[in-house]
Parts: sequence; C-alpha cells; structure tokens
Amino acid sequence: MNVVIVGATGLVGRTMLRVLEERNVNVDRLVLAASERSAGQTMTFRDQPLDVVELRPETFDGIDYALFSAGGSVSRQFAPVAAARGCVVIDNSSAWRMDPDVPLVVPEVNPLDALLHRGVIANPNCSTIQLVVALKPLAEAFGLRRVVVSTYQTPSGAGQKGLDQLRAELEGRMPMERISPHQLAGNTVFHTIDALNADSEEETKVMRETRRILHMDSLPLAVTCVRVPVIGGHAESVAVETERPCSADDVRQVLSNAPGVVVVDDPANAQYPTTVRANDTDPVYVGRIRPDASVANGILLWVVADNLRKGAATNAVQILEVLAAHR
Ligand SMILES: NC(=O)c1ccc[n+]([C@@H]2O[C@H](COP(=O)([O-])OP(=O)(O)OC[C@H]3O[C@@H](n4cnc5c(N)ncnc54)[C@H](OP(=O)(O)O)[C@@H]3O)[C@@H](O)[C@H]2O)c1
Repeated sequence: MNVVIVGATGLVGRTMLRVLEERNVNVDRLVLAASERSAGQTMTFRDQPLDVVELRPETFDGIDYALFSAGGSVSRQFAPVAAARGCVVIDNSSAWRMDPDVPLVVPEVNPLDALLHRGVIANPNCSTIQLVVALKPLAEAFGLRRVVVSTYQTPSGAGQKGLDQLRAELEGRMPMERISPHQLAGNTVFHTIDALNADSEEETKVMRETRRILHMDSLPLAVTCVRVPVIGGHAESVAVETERPCSADDVRQVLSNAPGVVVVDDPANAQYPTTVRANDTDPVYVGRIRPDASVANGILLWVVADNLRKGAATNAVQILEVLAAHR
C-alpha cells in the first residue's frame, strides 16, 4: 500500500505516523504532506528520514490511501482531487461527516459502513468516537432510550494552537495565538457557540455523529462540551437510560467484553479512568459504573480516551486496516 498523510506535521498527523509504525501497517511507500510552511522538514518513519512535501494535486499520484488531518478547508479542496485520482481518503476533519455519501466510521461500532465508500470515509469527532465505543455494547445488550453527556476536553482537541495557548498560559507567557477568547489555564470554557444555535458546534457534532454511527436517527441525546486545562485526553460523564433493566454489574460485564474498551472500576482503591492514564494509549477506558436512581433503568459512566489516538489517529488507521483487509 502507498499511503500519504496530509497534515503530517500536526498533532494528529504526527500521531498517525507513530500509530502506523506501532501497528506495523503494511505500508510500501509513505508520503508526508503539509503546507508550504513545512515543506522540506524531515520526519522519521521506521528509522528512515522522510522529507515533508507541500500538498499538491500530484501528491496523490500512485497513492492508494490518503489519511487527511489538515482541517476542513484542506479536506474540502483536496479530498475530491485525491478521490478522482483513485485514492481512498480517510478524513479527520468535520468537512464530510454528515454527507450521506460518505460513511462515518468507528471500526468497533460500524466497520462495514467503511466498505460503502465512494472515495471518501470520515473519521468522527474525537468526543464522539470514545462515546460510541462505550455506547454500542450497551445498545446491543440493553437498548438505549436516552443519553446525557458532559465532556471534559483537553484544548489539544483544537490542534497545536490549543496546546500552545494552554502551555503559554501555564508558563505565564502571552500566547501567540488563541483558540478561545478566554484564558484556558485554570479555567473551564466552551467551544464556539453559533449565535443562531443554542448548542455549541462541538455539542451539535457529538449529537449528530453519534446518531449516525449507531444508526439510531432518533436517539434522544443531550450534550454539553467543556474544555478543561488538561494537556491531553478527553473525559466524559455519561448518563444512560436503557430500554431494558440492567444492574451496574451487568453493564460492567458487557463493557469488559467489548472491543476497544478497558473497564477500570475499583473506586474504593482509587482505581478509575484518568486522562493521564489514557494518554498515549488506544483503549477507551470506562469506570464509575453505577446506578442512576433518579430515572428508571439509569446507569452512569465515566469514559476517558486519548483524543489524538483513539479520538483521531488510531481510529483512522483502524479504518485503513479494515479497507486493506477487504481489498
Ligand atoms: N486534535 C485532535 O484531538 C483532533 C481529533 C479529531 C480530529 N481532529 C481533526 O484533525 C485535523 C488536524 O488536527 P490537528 O489537531 O492535527 O491540527 P494541527 O496540529 O493544527 O495540525 C494541522 C496540520 O494541517 C496542516 N495544514 C494546514 N494548512 C494546510 C494546507 N493549506 N495544506 C496542507 N496542509 C495544511 C499543517 O501543516 P503545517 O505544519 O505546514 O502548517 C499541520 O500539519 C483537524 O481537521 C481536526 O479537526 C483533531
């Protein structure tokens, strides 16, 4: 397989490079592309130096798969160019996620949707991915009646700029660029809120994408997304109402056997998922599994994952593996 990473110098692109190496994906030729700002930089893949090239239409010549992580406008411009040249695009941006002709895929949840692609496959939002990995086994075992989610998200979800703003503020420096008009250090802030919509962009993405991936168009879902000043990892408080009654032990057992999930749930010994534990690893960690006595069939969960790995790079590489297995 010949593969290009578009946005190779970014937080997600750099993580993709590592994930391709670690998972020993069968890549014959790897091309690293970014903007003209980074052209000529050298990165390392399997101990070999590789020069970063400026993204151009010719970048896709002879390439089988393109992993895009360079933002929505680059994806909107270049994904059709790549697809027209016979390359299959796996796109991390939000550009195509709600396009009915573009499958939106989490391999633990709806892997076969990937095979319906017409040249472009979308990787979901990072908060959505970890949520659906935890919800899918519960939907199958007990049915879902309603879900309420509150997120606690690292600013690295907004890329290098988000991380740089937080780090500068933590070190008492003025940030060069900002992802929020508010201070991030020591603060809790929201994502961009559209004046015409009560929900933030992130909240809307999580609701729409979750329904689409689970194939549950009318699932009642309420989402509040918050950025918190952690360096890496997203955490989510998830309140689930199931169709059929289940105990916390039933849920623990189902999740313990679910693909991609690691249950860490021994609160008496202070064992529960944390973002520090999740960082640089691929699983979705679930803990604090307990009954929600305020509603019928209520269960509470705490769901944590590394936004750059399972929330982005690892999920994209897993989609590539699904495609390669069905080639
Ligand atoms: N961060 C996350 O947790 C996360 C999770 C899921 C999805 N995503 C999505 O993944 C994408 C990348 O995110 P990120 O966090 O990696 O952002 P980032 O750290 O800001 O990196 C952006 C990358 O895009 C490249 N780029 C920018 N403009 C370009 C252009 N005109 N042509 C070619 N390359 C260009 C940059 O190259 P230069 O170095 O040359 O500027 C850089 O490699 C975004 O769409 C984001 O929404 C991010």
